[in-house]
Formats: sequence, structure tokens, C-alpha cells
Amino acid sequence: MQVTRTLPELRECLTTRPRPIGLVPTMGFLHAGHLALVRRARAECATAAVSIFVNPAQFGPQEDLARYPRDLPRDLRMLESAGADVVWVPEADEVYPRGYQTYVTVGRVAEPLEGAARPGHFRGVATVVAKLFNAFTPDHAYFGQKDAQQAAVIRQMARDLNFPPEIIVCPTIRESDGLAMSSRNTYLDPQERRAAAVLYRALSAAMIAYQRGQRSADNLRAAMRDTLSTEPLAKMEYVSAADPDTLQELDRVDGNALFSMAVRIGKTRLIDNFLLKDGSWDTGLIQGKGE
Ligand code: PAF
Repeated sequence: MQVTRTLPELRECLTTRPRPIGLVPTMGFLHAGHLALVRRARAECATAAVSIFVNPAQFGPQEDLARYPRDLPRDLRMLESAGADVVWVPEADEVYPRGYQTYVTVGRVAEPLEGAARPGHFRGVATVVAKLFNAFTPDHAYFGQKDAQQAAVIRQMARDLNFPPEIIVCPTIRESDGLAMSSRNTYLDPQERRAAAVLYRALSAAMIAYQRGQRSADNLRAAMRDTLSTEPLAKMEYVSAADPDTLQELDRVDGNALFSMAVRIGKTRLIDNFLLKDGSWDTGLIQGKGE
């Protein structure tokens, strides 16, 4: 596994690597969800490439950029064992040099939900992912379903700006109680960690209501809200039952739908979702059960 720091170093290293190249963009502090993406890239591509960059452009001024967890030696050990070939770990001024002033703004799909709650977030994500696509020139790029709107924004950007890589979205990997893996789970104290399983229960409540015949999106959103309200440590930011491509809220769930939510547990903001697609539910994978 080759670890590169500067852009010329990365480009030089990639010239000697076979195609197809699969890219897994990350912000580090890796967990089983990231490793599943790396293993998928390893299985499908001749070169599995990973970026580790805590992207300042996607954090709001009141967000957790400074305390975002970092542990590069641990990340590199995990990547080596997952079979990564090339890792890029740039400094912030390598990605955004002095005088930097170009940003990618995706339209409607980036506006609701996370876009409304975190102004500027998707502008930062789209900009850095565009730069990563230019840096790695990947054939495939791998993202997690946990960040469903991010995946929709990146797909839209790739389509609109003619970026070549195929965007591949992989299932959310979950802890045994259903909590979606996230680097931010490390902020939770033991009591909050137990409470955090309520997101999975709330999404399951919507799925069960749907399976019993409920098609009103208002009622399905209410099923999620009702379950969240049983957990005193959970403060709901939003629940949504939306079209998975446009992220517009639905009146009725008669076809594909993305059930998603953002919830604060103490000071930690968590997001999660279930996807109903072509009549079947993508609820993610519990680690250890098929992962
Ligand atoms: O999902 C993430 O970790 C980040 O948003 C990404 C895609 C690596 C861009 O910084």
C-alpha cells in the first residue's frame, strides 16, 4: 500500500497502477462501513484507492471540524488489512491552496433535509468530491447509503458535469443494536450510545407500518416521530419520507421512497435512513450478519 501526501505524488503513483481504479473518499477515523467500501473496491477494481481528508469546506462554523476524530496510524493499518493499494492524505492547503475560490453548487437535490439543516455542507462535499475525481480519475467511486442525500447530490453532480466514474452506493453497516456506523458515534457516552439505537427502531416502525398497508407519508413520518419521542435523550431535527432521487417529500408511498431522519442525542447529531426500492427494503447490514 502506497501512502501519498501531495497531488503530484498521487498522480505519479497512479500512473503505474492498473485500471480500473476504484476510489473510496473518506474523512478518516475509519470503521467497518468504510472498510466494506474498500473491500468492494478491492473486489471490483484492479486498484483500490482511498482518500483521507477532513474537508473543512463541508463543516459549518458551529460544527465539529476541530474535534472531528482523527487517527491516521490506525486508519492506515485498517486500510492495509482491507487491501487498499493507494492512499492519499493531503494537507488542507494541498486541496485548497492560498487564493482558492472555485466551488461546486448542486441545485434542488441539495436543498432540503441535510442541505437545509447544514447550509453550505453540500457545496463543500460536491467541491471536494469533484477535486477527488480530478485527482484520482477513478473508474468507480464508492459511497455509503447512510449518507443517502450525499450520494444523490454526487450522482447529480457527476451527471451534470460529465464526471466519468460510476457512482456505487453500498449498504449501511450497523452495530448489533442497529445503530449505523459513523465516526461521530465516538462522541456518544454509554447512556447516549444506548439511546442512539432509537433511530433504527424509528425507521423500523415506518417499515412495519408500510408492511401493514400504511401508504400515507404523513402517517409513516408520524410512526417515526412517535418512536423517537419514546427516547428522552433524542431530539428530532427532521423525519422524512421522500423521493430517493429528488428528495422531495411524498404525499403517498406508492413506489420508491427514502425514509430518513436527523436526530440529536445529547450534543451529537446522527442521521440514518431506510430505502424502499422496487418493492424491497434496503435497511443495511448488521455487522457480523453477512458483513
Ligand atoms: O462521506 C464523507 O465522509 C465525506 O462527506 C466525503 C464524501 C469523504 C467528502 O468529504
